[in-house]
Amino acid sequence: MFKQMLFIIKRKLLNIYMKLYPVSAARRLGVKIGLNCRLIKVNFGTEPYLITLGNHVSATRTTFITHDGATWCFREQFPEADLIKPITVGDNVFLGYGVIILPGVNIGNNVIIGAGAVVANDIPANCVAVGVPAKPVKTIEEYLNKNKKQFISTKAMDANTKRDYLLKHLVNTRSPFNGGL
Ligand SMILES: CC(C)(COP(=O)(O)OP(=O)(O)OC[C@H]1O[C@@H](n2cnc3c(N)ncnc32)[C@H](O)[C@@H]1OP(=O)(O)O)[C@@H](O)C(=O)NCCC(=O)NCCS
Repeated sequence: MFKQMLFIIKRKLLNIYMKLYPVSAARRLGVKIGLNCRLIKVNFGTEPYLITLGNHVSATRTTFITHDGATWCFREQFPEADLIKPITVGDNVFLGYGVIILPGVNIGNNVIIGAGAVVANDIPANCVAVGVPAKPVKTIEEYLNKNKKQFISTKAMDANTKRDYLLKHLVNTRSPFNGGL
């Protein structure tokens, strides 16, 4: 009972630490991480020491899976068998919300992976990849050219200023949903 309580408290403390200092918490788990990375609620799985992230990587709710648990189906034939491969992410990579990265995957430099993608194969440098399995759909240059006209300068604003700015510029005040008619 006491041991169980201690375990739960330890896990809770670890979770708090991971929330407050996600990069150093990941490094403590053995993940190799470059400079200027942003990690939000990332799951590094059972072999975090096999994961390498370059500089300036952003990951939100990403799941890194380094082991192929499907060996389960052959447990009687190969009781000791595991299938485990490292994962590498290059420099300047944005992993969209909820991306899953499978064993053995290498992601190149300057890459955007779309929200919800399952990355099963290597992704080359300088591209945007989306889907299940993730495939390149455009170059990172094409992404920039398409979207830069719509960039807005909200990054340095405090929450209230940003809210006012977005409501003013992005919400149609004549919409029937907000009584603006
Ligand atoms: C991947 C992403 C960057 C692409 O942006 P974009 O280049 O402006 O996208 P486009 O609208 O030109 O899409 C290109 C194609 O990919 C598809 N696509 C875009 N994002 C996709 C996604 N996440 N999953 C699957 N398909 C996607 C589009 O439907 C389009 O397909 P089509 O050519 O058949 O019509 C963007 O859609 C995305 O997923 N951003 C991440 C959002 C996120 O995670 N935010 C949280 C931040 S912490």
